[in-house]
Amino acid sequence: MSALLDVRVAAIRELTPVIREYSFEALAGALPGFSAGSHVQLHLPNGRRNAYSLLSDPADTRQYRIAVRQQDASRGGSRYLHQHLKVGDRLRLSPPANLFPLHGEAREHILVAAGIGITPFIAYSQELLRRGADFELHYAYRADTSDAYVEELRQQLGPRLHEYIGGQRRLDLASLLQGRALGAHVYACGPQSLLLDLQEQATAQGWSPRRVHWEAFAAAEPGQPFRVELARSGQQLDVAADESLLEALEAAGVEVPNLCRGGVCGQCQTPWLKGDVEHRDHFLSAIERTSSLMPCVSRGCGSPILLDL
Ligand code: FES
Repeated sequence: MSALLDVRVAAIRELTPVIREYSFEALAGALPGFSAGSHVQLHLPNGRRNAYSLLSDPADTRQYRIAVRQQDASRGGSRYLHQHLKVGDRLRLSPPANLFPLHGEAREHILVAAGIGITPFIAYSQELLRRGADFELHYAYRADTSDAYVEELRQQLGPRLHEYIGGQRRLDLASLLQGRALGAHVYACGPQSLLLDLQEQATAQGWSPRRVHWEAFAAAEPGQPFRVELARSGQQLDVAADESLLEALEAAGVEVPNLCRGGVCGQCQTPWLKGDVEHRDHFLSAIERTSSLMPCVSRGCGSPILLDL
């Protein structure tokens, strides 16, 4: 894994009652450059590691900015940030990685965000404005709850911004995709229901998968405690209800490559030999699931899991 970045919290801004923005600056030297759509992993003092999209302008690396919504089912990541992180605190970040890049061959970029899914598109918008690219941003939100950055986006984007306020106007993906030029690419970030709807509508209208891009919220959900055995070392681990299998492996000194920590990138794929697995990833095929699991999100759900580690 690349060397971690040492940063301090430079500012915290409340965007809505449930969403806060955090700005980080390097303790020494400069922060590495990044491209629009990149994320960083925060290594929190409580042992949690969560991935968040960078929403800062990629052309300005004096600070990194992220926005975090406090999740009701938080396992300690968003709750820790909201309740404990203060200006001046020190943290470690993984260097930026990009699983959701802009596609250079696109002639037109259609960005679709719901709620906190707006974050990668804040960086996208600044990059696309700089390039003079043809783009539009469709943003569905709830007034006074998940309407982060609406005012700034209105100022910056003018008619490029299309707003869908809960209870007033519905985001209709079928109409949005209809009649688009072949060079158009669509990008979506938001809850699973939005991403599934996008994939269904795009398939029904014959869009090539190469023109449809999405990023799921990358956060593991809690579950029941379960037991794991490592076949090669004979180690046995108990994974707590609010802990992921990946976190339990890391706590035991077993490093597994990872990027998204949310079951979408494929980096942490690990072979398993026996046991009852509840797969929760969005990466493996049904056949691959018979021999592999994603420890960032997958959990045991019965007899202990035997991993080929
Ligand atoms: S870290 Fe990305 S799928 Fe597990």
